[in-house]
Amino acid sequence: MRVLVTGVAGFMGGHVAQGLMSAGHEVVGLDDLSGGFEENVPPGVDLRVIDLRDGEETEAVVVEQAPDILCHLAANAREGASQFQPRDVCGRNLMAYANVLVPAIRSGVKKVVLYSSMAVYGDQEAPFDENMPRRPADVYGVNKTAMEEITEILADVHEFMYTIIRPHNVFGERQSLSDPFRNVVGIFMNRIMRGEPLYVYGDGDQKRAFSYIGDSLPAFLRAAELSPELDRQIVNVGGKEPVTINELLRMVAAEFGADVDVVHLPDRPREVKKAYCTWQKSEDLLGYEERFGLAEGIRRMAEWARAKGPQPWRDERLELPSAKAPHIWLTEDEREEGSSGRRSQP
Ligand SMILES: NC(=O)c1ccc[n+]([C@@H]2O[C@H](COP(=O)([O-])OP(=O)(O)OC[C@H]3O[C@@H](n4cnc5c(N)ncnc54)[C@H](O)[C@@H]3O)[C@@H](O)[C@H]2O)c1
Repeated sequence: MRVLVTGVAGFMGGHVAQGLMSAGHEVVGLDDLSGGFEENVPPGVDLRVIDLRDGEETEAVVVEQAPDILCHLAANAREGASQFQPRDVCGRNLMAYANVLVPAIRSGVKKVVLYSSMAVYGDQEAPFDENMPRRPADVYGVNKTAMEEITEILADVHEFMYTIIRPHNVFGERQSLSDPFRNVVGIFMNRIMRGEPLYVYGDGDQKRAFSYIGDSLPAFLRAAELSPELDRQIVNVGGKEPVTINELLRMVAAEFGADVDVVHLPDRPREVKKAYCTWQKSEDLLGYEERFGLAEGIRRMAEWARAKGPQPWRDERLELPSAKAPHIWLTEDEREEGSSGRRSQP
C-alpha cells in the first residue's frame, strides 16, 4: 500500500514511517521541519518538505501521491503553550489537517489514521475513557476535538475508513530535546546534560502515564491496518501506570546519576492535574503491551540522549506573551513589559 505520513520528521512520525516500511508499505512523508528533524526520517522514505498550511502546495502533492492510507501526525503539539501561540497551533493542527484530508478524500483514500490526543478530555475525572464526551480545556485540545469531529463527519458522508488514536505522554529516542515548551522527559534530560536546574510547574504531584515508543509503536502500526474491526474506532494509546512528575523527575535524575536543583514554578494556566487514560481498548483492539515499561524506556532514551549530547534550546517568541505564561518562556523584556521582545534561553 502507499501510505502518506504527515509529520514524518517528528518523533513519532519517524518511528511510524519506519514500522510501515518494515511491514512492506511504500511511504511518502510530508514535513516542514518546523519541529522535526531530517535525521528522524528513515532511509527509503520519500520526504517532501512542505508546509501543510499552504493549501495549494499540499493539494498538489497529495493528489500526485494518491495515498491508500493517510497517517496524520503533523502538529504543533505544545498543549501548555497553546494558550500563548493559538494562531500557530490552529494553523498546524486544524488547518493543516483540512488541507491534507480534502485532497486525500478526493484521491480515493481508503483509510485515515488520525493522531489526536487525550487533550480532548479536558479536566474530566481521570482515568479518561473513550466513551467520555469531548470537553477540551485548552486551544490544542479544541483543535484535536475539531479534527476528530471533522473526520467522523467526512467519513460518514464520503465513505472512507478511519481510526482515531489518542496517544498520551509517549517518549523515547528521536524526541526533540530542544523544545522548551513540551516533552517533559526530553526537557529534564537536556537540562541535566546542560547543568541547568529542573523546573516543575506547581507541586509536581500532577499525574501522567508515560509510554515508551517501543511499547506504543506496535499499536500505532496495527491502527493503520484496513481491518473492519478498527474502522470508526477511537482508542487511547499510552502508559498503564500513572506516576507523578516528581517521581518521573527522580527516575530521570537517577538515570543520569545527577544531583539536580529543582525549582518549583507557579501552575501553568489550564493545566489538567490528573491526566491519564484507560487502556483496555488499546490492549483488546490494538494489542498494546508494555514490553519495556517506564524505567527501561527512560534508560534507553537516556543512552540515546547522552550520545546526542546537550542541545541548544529553540529560540521562539510567543504570540501572546503574558504574565500568566511561565516566566521561563518569556524574554526579559516580556517579563517586564508583557509585550514583545526576543526569547532568551530558559
Ligand atoms: N508525543 C506524545 O506524547 C503525543 C501525545 C498526544 C498526541 N500526540 C500527537 O501525535 C502526533 C505526533 O507527535 P510527536 O510527539 O511526534 O510530535 P513532533 O512535534 O515530534 O512531530 C510533529 C511533526 O509535525 C511537523 N509539522 C508541524 N507543522 C507542520 C506543517 N505546517 N507542515 C508540515 N509539517 C508540520 C513538525 O515539523 C514535526 O516534525 C501529533 O499529532 C501530536 O499531537 C503526541
